[in-house]
Amino acid sequence: MYYAKNAASLEGSATLIYTAKAASMKASGKDIICLTAGQPDFPTPKAAIEAAEKAMAEGKTLYTPSMGIAELRQAVASRWSTFHNQNYKIENTMVSCGAKHSIANMLEAVVSPGDKVLLPKPFWVSYPQMVRRLGGISVYPEGGQMLITGDDIRKAAADGAKGMIFNSPCNPSGLVNTMEMIKDVAAAIKETGFWVISDDIYEDLYYGPGKVPHILTADPDLKDQVALITGVSKTYAMTGWRIGFALANPEWIKIAGRIQAHTTSNPCSVSQYAALAVVEGKAEEDRVFMYNAFKRRRDLICELLGEIPGLAFDKPEGAFYVYPRIVADKPISSEQFCISLLENGGLGTIPGSAFGNEGYIRLSFAASDDDIVEAVKRLNSFLERGDFK
Ligand SMILES: Cc1ncc(COP(=O)(O)O)c(C=O)c1O
Repeated sequence: MYYAKNAASLEGSATLIYTAKAASMKASGKDIICLTAGQPDFPTPKAAIEAAEKAMAEGKTLYTPSMGIAELRQAVASRWSTFHNQNYKIENTMVSCGAKHSIANMLEAVVSPGDKVLLPKPFWVSYPQMVRRLGGISVYPEGGQMLITGDDIRKAAADGAKGMIFNSPCNPSGLVNTMEMIKDVAAAIKETGFWVISDDIYEDLYYGPGKVPHILTADPDLKDQVALITGVSKTYAMTGWRIGFALANPEWIKIAGRIQAHTTSNPCSVSQYAALAVVEGKAEEDRVFMYNAFKRRRDLICELLGEIPGLAFDKPEGAFYVYPRIVADKPISSEQFCISLLENGGLGTIPGSAFGNEGYIRLSFAASDDDIVEAVKRLNSFLERGDFK
């Protein structure tokens, strides 16, 4: 049987594979701590649940407009207009089945087979696969630094790339471009005419002072070139509801909207009403509570990891991940390291190879304080035993 080349060459999601392996070992009774999760370890806020219950009771369970219910699109336009000091209207917005789906739709609208797309490295696992699915070619910064710079954009453009995916705060590193770096990135976007998909899913989990530095703050005139991707998954512990948002120029949204109309139709009706409640601000107490918990745990895990001589890392400024490098005198296979750490050290983590880096591991601090303390102990003894060498 013949399968389409692009589709058949897609790789599975390594984060899901490692998370499932750690979870199944735990379920079979093994003493495993999982720091693999890419989602908050809190329940969805009550306001969202109640809004969903009400929507179901009122029979709002049939198809909705494919791009989302008008109330939610309007609420998204208002909230992110305020956040970015812009003037988004309903036609600048689209609701999809999670931020992942929003990215896939927006990308499909701008990538033709053979097009080069600049991606960060380390990258979120799905970006290269999404580009490959469309027959595009992923290109990466050459300097080896963790975050994309203006020069990376200029070089990629000179090499024929037309656009990029940008992600700050970054999964897996938790690093955030400073305002100075962002200004340089914004200048390069203007010079090159790049389209940009700015994956802002972790924008509310920023632990620095003030608002997270953003391309549109550096240069508001880039609004038409930059698609914002955001959602409710990480900010409001709503990963399973599958609601994400795109905000972009109306033409880009219209094209992406047709893709959505011919693939999924609308995102789940009930989930849209749940998302509306939180976007309108009905779960702000829960949001702040979760944010404070993540910030405190970030400090805890960084303090504990900082005492381990075999690790080198920059303190994350956002998201809920820390991404240490294993300090060793010879190259380390992060995959072998993580498998051995799981099987012999009782700790589930994700190898850097999943994100395009060797020698790193990703630890999620979306876990209890007790689990974080025990996990770091396990990692320390594993490193001391040197089982991975
Ligand atoms: C960087 C990044 N972008 C997008 C997503 C997808 O979010 P959603 O669950 O809303 O599809 C994730 C989820 O892990 C992520 O880490």
